[in-house]
Amino acid sequence: MTAKIVVDSVNHLYRPPRGRPVLALENISLDIREREFIALLGPSGCGKSTLLYLMGGFLPIETGAITVDGKPVVAPGPDRGIVFQHFALFPWKTVRANVTYGLERQGLPRAEREARAQRFIDMVGLTGFEDSYPSQLSGGMKQRAAIARTLAIDPDVLLMDEPFGALDAQTRHLMQTELLAIWQRSPKTVIFVTHDVQEAVYLAERVAVMSARPGRIKAIVDTRFDKNDPAVHKSQPFVDKVDELWGLVREEAIKAEQREAP
Ligand SMILES: Nc1ncnc2c1ncn2[C@@H]1O[C@H](COP(=O)(O)OP(=O)(O)OP(=O)(O)O)[C@@H](O)[C@H]1O
Ligand SMILES: [Mg+2]
Repeated sequence: MTAKIVVDSVNHLYRPPRGRPVLALENISLDIREREFIALLGPSGCGKSTLLYLMGGFLPIETGAITVDGKPVVAPGPDRGIVFQHFALFPWKTVRANVTYGLERQGLPRAEREARAQRFIDMVGLTGFEDSYPSQLSGGMKQRAAIARTLAIDPDVLLMDEPFGALDAQTRHLMQTELLAIWQRSPKTVIFVTHDVQEAVYLAERVAVMSARPGRIKAIVDTRFDKNDPAVHKSQPFVDKVDELWGLVREEAIKAEQREAP
């Protein structure tokens, strides 16, 4: 299979204006296949968001290279849609205007924009809140608005940074099902950051576990299960896979904690 995204020997060093430089990523190499659904797991601060920003073209790539369809990433592009960890909605725009924004930039006619936006607003369960401003929404609602905005653009590559982190268990489950349905019917490559091991095993075909800072790829684990089996969470192979991944993540979380200790 051909690689859709190639991350080749990437480091990332943050140089804050004050304080010491922080090596966030060290020697990351990862091939992501066309149409693959891959999850990134790892302790807080290991560089998951940084890696997503680099793939999205939101941070300069200083060491190594990232290519999408063989072309080097140099800037954000409409082929890659990102759902930011902290939503990043336009506070001065309504939910509808936030969702239609990307569609205006794609040059879609007005009626089509509105219909498309409405479809995704309905899908994330925000019907009736089209004219609300982000400040009038709960954290989970803002997160759903941000997801609708990115999905509406229908990008080839979806970069999702803990997209369901602010949702209650029930809504999270509904959104997982929607996302899987979208991924199964349209040819998308999904890179999905989560702290939830079960979610990673359920959604992804492979899970990349990252080490404590500086982030490296510690392990890549195959997690292909039958997504359409409603009892998959309870099957022994699924439970064993969750355990295996928990073990890998726990080791790194302990290291990260020891490092942060005074
Ligand atoms: N702008 C910045 N300047 C300096 N250091 C930064 C900056 N942004 C992130 N870092 C540091 O880089 C490391 C990686 O950060 P990043 O946000 O990518 O981690 P993460 O894995 O997404 O964490 P979380 O799970 O908490 O979201 C952290 O140690 C963080 O403190
Ligand atoms: Mg993050």
